[in-house]
Amino acid sequence: MAAAGDVPDGRQPTAPYLDALVAYGFRGVTRFHVPGHKGGPGADPGLLHAIGESAFRLDVPQDTAGIDVGPSPTPYELAEQLAAEAYGARRSWFLTNGATQGNHALCLALAPLGTAVVLQRNAHASMIDGLVLSGGLPAFVSPEYDRELGLAHGVTPEAVAAALARTPGAAAVFVVSPTYYGIAADVAELARVAHDAGAALVVDQAWGPHFGFHGGVPQSALALGADAVLTSTHKIVGSLAQSAMLHVARDGLIDPDRIARAIRLVRSTSPSSLLLASLDGARRQLAVHGEALLSETIAAAARTRTAIDAVPGCSVVGEELVGAPGAAASDPLRIVIDVRGTGCSGYEVAAALKAAYDIHPELATQATLVLVLGAAQPVGALERFAHDFAETIARVARPGAREAILPPPAELQQQLAVAPRDAFLGAAEVVEVDAAVGRVSCEAIAGYPPGIPALLPGERVTAEVVAYLRELVASGARLHGASDPTFETINVLRSDPAAR
Ligand SMILES: Cc1ncc(COP(=O)(O)O)c(C=O)c1O
Repeated sequence: MAAAGDVPDGRQPTAPYLDALVAYGFRGVTRFHVPGHKGGPGADPGLLHAIGESAFRLDVPQDTAGIDVGPSPTPYELAEQLAAEAYGARRSWFLTNGATQGNHALCLALAPLGTAVVLQRNAHASMIDGLVLSGGLPAFVSPEYDRELGLAHGVTPEAVAAALARTPGAAAVFVVSPTYYGIAADVAELARVAHDAGAALVVDQAWGPHFGFHGGVPQSALALGADAVLTSTHKIVGSLAQSAMLHVARDGLIDPDRIARAIRLVRSTSPSSLLLASLDGARRQLAVHGEALLSETIAAAARTRTAIDAVPGCSVVGEELVGAPGAAASDPLRIVIDVRGTGCSGYEVAAALKAAYDIHPELATQATLVLVLGAAQPVGALERFAHDFAETIARVARPGAREAILPPPAELQQQLAVAPRDAFLGAAEVVEVDAAVGRVSCEAIAGYPPGIPALLPGERVTAEVVAYLRELVASGARLHGASDPTFETINVLRSDPAAR
């Protein structure tokens, strides 16, 4: 066992919530309570066949005696305590609306109405949405951008220090680590810089729920001094989609009661017991067997990397980026393949893999293909990928040709004209994008790739941003968040705050 919190007290091999749910689900209780499927008999037969009777029997409502009601600690409370112990946190919460719910709660708790915070510019959309809910005022800090590969790394401590200097009284600094590409920021230094300014450091570690559970993966942000950390358990560890955890540090700057209050606000009164049980089980698996499972996955990933590197025109990027600004460590569970040398784009290679082998990578960009491995990745599929990939490249490569990557506008650090909340909730009108220049955007628009928002609610639309987004659309990129994906029209504030 190698829990990030390192507390081998014998309780980690238990899964109290899962066990209590199983006891209730299979002992033949008479259900005069919700949900209406009554443990299966009331369900549509086709659905029952598809997901199985067990899933229905275990789909039990909140406030059930012996599960989350009864003498404290209830099995539910115990399960969250065990998660906190495994992650080395003071307190952990199970989330049933993903890391998205965690970001909303963090904004409500730490960035309430009118409160200044520092925010990584390419934070997940749920952060901006959280600020729309809370009314906090972000000062943006740009991530480091790798022009060669066309992808963003983390933020540097220097950039955060500068943002804090521009934002006196900032209550918190929100950063993302690791990135979608598995690159971790220098969290220890970021924590020092934030704490020197009296601000809490919050790390969106959605892509690193396994960090700290093996010597070969980056350390967890909690161990490096972050005050709150979000882990999207479903992304890498084996819990069900939509389940995640939020952790608050043992000796940090954040009062867990504030977080608990905010979580209640963004939580259903009928959280899925299946999702909660999956978190309890995933925590057990990670804490008890994580080190061994990760060893197997990391070794298989290394073999696959070597095989991919041997394919003409391809190389795996990750470790050699470490040391570049915004890149302090890399996650071996992310295989980022630079395919530029094949003359094909990542999109083309992804399409060819899908057509021939039914292989579905997590992400393709112009320059890369990204594979996400699970903590307990099936090794056979990885070994097979090396073969299928090599065959595909041999078939589709056309060395020589290479399209230039479109860099985002240099000044993606616009200043907000109004708070994101006021722009999102304000009276809007739809205008042609050319007529929108100079107006205040009500939308967040990011091109994928590279995933850095070009426009956020509350920012003025500039001619440069319009030109950039137009070019992105023309190059085949998708615009996330845009009300009009063709980018012919956009929602702007009807009345300009400067004119009031
Ligand atoms: C950095 C980051 N944070 C938060 C989220 C939201 O996670 P979830 O899908 O679990 O709600 C994502 C989703 O991709 C993400 O990439």
